[in-house]
Amino acid sequence: MKITIIGTGYVGLVTGACLAELGNDVFCLDLDEKKVALLNAGGIPIHEPGLEEVVARNREAGRLTFSTDVEAAAHHGVLQFIAVGTPPDEDGSADLQYVLAAARGIGKHMNEFKVIVDKSTVPVGTAEKVRAAIQAELDLRSTYATFAVASNPEFLKEGAAVEDFMRPDRIVIGVDSTPEGERARDLLRSLYAPFNRNRERTYWMDVRSAEFTKYAANAMLATRISFMNELANLADKVGVDIEAVRRGVGSDPRIGYSFLYAGCGYGGSCFPKDVQALERTARGYGQELLILRAVEAVNDRQKSVLGNKVAQRFGADLAGRHFAVWGLAFKPNTDDMREASARVLLRDLLERGATVAVYDPVAMTEAERVLQLDLTAEQLARVRFATSPHDALSEADALVIVTEWKAFRSPNFERIKAQLKQPVIFDGRNLFEPSTMAELGVEYHGIGRSV
Ligand code: UGA
Repeated sequence: MKITIIGTGYVGLVTGACLAELGNDVFCLDLDEKKVALLNAGGIPIHEPGLEEVVARNREAGRLTFSTDVEAAAHHGVLQFIAVGTPPDEDGSADLQYVLAAARGIGKHMNEFKVIVDKSTVPVGTAEKVRAAIQAELDLRSTYATFAVASNPEFLKEGAAVEDFMRPDRIVIGVDSTPEGERARDLLRSLYAPFNRNRERTYWMDVRSAEFTKYAANAMLATRISFMNELANLADKVGVDIEAVRRGVGSDPRIGYSFLYAGCGYGGSCFPKDVQALERTARGYGQELLILRAVEAVNDRQKSVLGNKVAQRFGADLAGRHFAVWGLAFKPNTDDMREASARVLLRDLLERGATVAVYDPVAMTEAERVLQLDLTAEQLARVRFATSPHDALSEADALVIVTEWKAFRSPNFERIKAQLKQPVIFDGRNLFEPSTMAELGVEYHGIGRSV
């Protein structure tokens, strides 16, 4: 099938590459000339396991092309996926300018039936705006062409995006019950047929419900995390092990184990943005989403939990103290530092006068970029970018772990003890057992594990 993908960010690039892998003829459009040049030269703008190989294989096979040509993109695919960014507006609502610009680009050039598929996370009612934007362009050109707008939100996780796309739990598709909507349903059914061979994974619904499903899913996951984080803070006070509680609670099949890990807060481009956008949508309809307001507030507070624990242990004034920080990305297997808890920790430590040595297996370049935005020149001068986990440790008063990279899970504790001035670990992701740490002679501060 001929497919156009508009936007080669996380979602667009993964979707395009994976649909090409299934044998489709995929044309990816991006207005960023540098990015397109990089992709055409075999480069990849993001770190995502497995993606480079899939892109290379399909480029070589001629099934995946990258271009800045809006007209060619509009003519290429019968399916036109819109996968551009929807950053938060000043008031927290999703900014639709890129989505609507993509829609206008299609409307300016299309001459025959097209299915426009919203893949970006967009608020309820966006498909109607996309439809209006396309129709306005057709009217301007006095052109008659029929089209459908469908919603097909993406559920992939950074760091596991290719795997998530290729082995989806579910495919959510919203289409209208109109003749064009029926045509869209037929095309999307055959596009996704390879995923439905053993089990039907597609959930068909109306367009608005599909748009809402994406927000509901992310808001539910964020709620679980904030709920556990709030309990973990209480667990610290009452002498309870939140990890034992997680296992006890998660064993109830009605609850399940996933996304119940307490830690130093959730980050990334999706949860913070989508929770806010859903609250904003509700407010637009005169409703206050009290639970989500709390989810956000708890998460903001949780990002300071490590800094506060360090200050409790070493005093509010950290001048003359030096800390090693392991993990900067908002989660493992990505170099993404959007809304990462490490940014809050570093600001806290540096504002209190400390010096730090930081290490992340892949996010070092991105860290240098974002820390320049977050910190003053004087603060930045107190950050050393280490070349390995152990390089970060020398002469530090303590180690602070922010991201649960695999490489940090089984460290050489004897070496850590020898390198640190004193064997103190603050662990924002609860990687180790407090009892094992006690046996090793390590002073260990997890989240909700003060048993
Ligand atoms: C999230 C969703 O999980 C995807 O299903 C969705 O498609 C995606 O957003 C999106 O909207 O595009 P992502 O942001 O890539 O994916 O990362 P997650 O694995 O969900 O992690 C988000 C944050 O929650 C991370 O900072 C992680 O450390 C934190 N987290 C996760 C916890 O603190 N505890 C947990 O138990 C799980």
